[in-house]
Amino acid sequence: MRSKIVLLVSSMIGSAALLSACGGSETKGGISPQVMADSLFSVMEADRTVYTKLIIGRLAKEEKVIKASEHWKDEKALVLPAQMFRYGAERVAEKGAPFSYSLLSLWPVNKQNKPKTEIEKKGLNFISENPGKNFYGEEELGGTKYFTAVYPDVGVAPACVSCHNKHKDSPRTDFKIGEVMGGVVIRIPL
Ligand code: HEC
Repeated sequence: MRSKIVLLVSSMIGSAALLSACGGSETKGGISPQVMADSLFSVMEADRTVYTKLIIGRLAKEEKVIKASEHWKDEKALVLPAQMFRYGAERVAEKGAPFSYSLLSLWPVNKQNKPKTEIEKKGLNFISENPGKNFYGEEELGGTKYFTAVYPDVGVAPACVSCHNKHKDSPRTDFKIGEVMGGVVIRIPL
């Protein structure tokens, strides 16, 4: 079952044609926007955790082989997990996939990562007040209706918490491991 889902999601990412088969909010024998968003998130969350634990946690924190820095190019450092995530999202957008995604927070290090729409604000508040739960809503932006899902982005590794708490631009310095630090927003046009 699990491998089937993984296969489904990789073909979704690869073909970018799935949503037309879903027919927006109706399922018509395809999958609903919520199942699509949940599946996409499970892959994003897995990749993000693996990168943070096996690359940043191991090489930068434990073995101190190389550091991680937002100025990775100039400093010949590792790309930060949030940058890795954003470069992926930008690539997906360039390819014209039938969904978009971003990483936001109520306490952003980078002010660009603040929630902008009402649904993003509502979703980020909901996931931080209801740990373990996701938020689903609909919104209309520029004349298009979207299914918008917000998933908790959790401080899964010591590297997450220590880097944010120490960062000079972080508005919060008391994150604890296992806490919601922000949210992944996935938007699917209906
Ligand atoms: C080595 C430092 C470092 C590590 C490790 C790190 N972050 Fe970040 N994180 C940052 C920086 C810097 C940004 C802003 C990057 C940008 O958008 O330019 C950021 C961005 C974010 C954002 C978007 C909102 C914001 O603060 O701008 C979230 C949410 C987030 N990180 C959560 C996490 C989680 C969860 C982990 C662990 C899985 C993690 N971070 C690991 C430094 C770090």
